[in-house]
Amino acid sequence: MFNDLRLSVHQAFVQRFGAPPTHIVRAPGRVNLIGEHTDYNDGFVLPMAIDRAAWVALRPTNSRRVHLHFIDFDQSAEFDLDQLTRVDNAPVEYVKGVAAVLQSVDLTLSGWEGVIQGDIPIGAGLSSSAALEMAAIRAFEAVSGFTWDAPRMAKLGQRVENEWLGLQTGIMDQMISAAGQSGHALLIDCRSLDLKPAPLPPGTVAVVMDTSTRRQLVHGKYNERRQQCEAAAAHFGVKMLRDVSVEQFEADSDALDDLTRRRARHVVTENARTLAAYDAMQQGDPRILGALMEASHESLRDDFEVSTDALNAIVTAAQRHPACYGARMTGAGFGGCAVALVMADKAESFAQFVEQMYTQQTGLTPALYVCQASEGASIEEL
Ligand code: GLA
Repeated sequence: MFNDLRLSVHQAFVQRFGAPPTHIVRAPGRVNLIGEHTDYNDGFVLPMAIDRAAWVALRPTNSRRVHLHFIDFDQSAEFDLDQLTRVDNAPVEYVKGVAAVLQSVDLTLSGWEGVIQGDIPIGAGLSSSAALEMAAIRAFEAVSGFTWDAPRMAKLGQRVENEWLGLQTGIMDQMISAAGQSGHALLIDCRSLDLKPAPLPPGTVAVVMDTSTRRQLVHGKYNERRQQCEAAAAHFGVKMLRDVSVEQFEADSDALDDLTRRRARHVVTENARTLAAYDAMQQGDPRILGALMEASHESLRDDFEVSTDALNAIVTAAQRHPACYGARMTGAGFGGCAVALVMADKAESFAQFVEQMYTQQTGLTPALYVCQASEGASIEEL
C-alpha cells in the first residue's frame, strides 16, 4: 500500500538505525458519527476508523530496552521494560504505559527500536492517543509474539488512559482503532463489545471539520462528567445509565437536581439516538441520520455542556449548506473537531462554504477533509 507516512517512517528508521525495519505497524484515529459520552455509561457508540493514523517502523533488539524516536516532536526516548515509572506527559509515556499494562497481565515483552509518526491532530477529538496506544500494542506484539484479540487489546489500551494517564475514558477510541472496518462505521455495544458494521448512506461522505481550537487541561471536566453520570445511575438504582430507557428517565427523573438531570438526559437520549442512527444507516437514509446528528449536538451543547463557541459556529455553518444532512461536534468536546454528513458530489463546495463562513465569524482558519472509513490496527511484516 502506498502511503506517505509508511514511507516516511521506513526511511527515517533506516537513517537512524542504519538497517531496514522488520515491521511497520499502523493504528488509525477515529471520527465518531454519534453516541458521545455514552461509552463509559456502558452505552452505544457509532464511530468509524479514519484514514489518518499513527505509524511505527521497528525492529526487535536483543535487550529489555525500548528506543524510540518521535518524528512529529523531534524527540528521542528510551526506557527499560523492568523499570517502568511515569515521569511526565511526554509521548513516550503512552508507549511506556502500554508496556506496563501488558506486563501486568503477564504478557512477556521484548525490547525494540522504532520511529513513530502520525497525521492525527493532537487534542482535536480524533483519538490520536488511542491510535498511539494501539500502535504500541501492535509493535510489542510484532516483537513479542502474543496473540492479538481486538476487544482484549482495546481494554488494555483503555487501562493505559485510566491507570497510567489518569483519564477515566471509556472504551470507544481503542475499540474502533483496534477493530475498524474499511468502508464502514461500527455500532459498538460498550457493555458486551459486540460490533455491528454499518456503511454510510449511499452518495454521502463524512467530512471532518477541524475548528483549529484544541482542548487543554480537560481531564477534570471529563472525569467530573463521568462522576455525574454515576450519581445519576445510582439515583435510578442501576449500574450504569445504559440501563435507563427514555421512558424510565421521564417517569423518574424529577427528584434529580437540575444539573445531574440534564447530564443523565443527554446520555439516555443519546443512546436511543445512536441505535436509531444505526437503523437509519442500515436503511441508507441520510436524512434521518443527519437529523439525529443535529439532535446529538444540541444535547451535548445544552445538557452535557461539552461544546464550545468554535464548535457551535462550525456546526451552524455546516447546517446552512444545502448539501449537509446534519453536523455535530465529535469526541470528548471542549474544542477540536466536528463532523458533517454531506452529499458526496457536493463535498468540495460544502467545504469552501464552511471555511469561509467559519472564518468570517470566528477569525480562525479551519481545516475540512472528507475521510474514508479504514481498517483497524495492523502489522506489516517486511
Ligand atoms: C473521549 C474518550 C472516549 C469517549 C469520548 C466521548 O474520546 O476517550 O472514551 O468517552 O471522549 O464520547
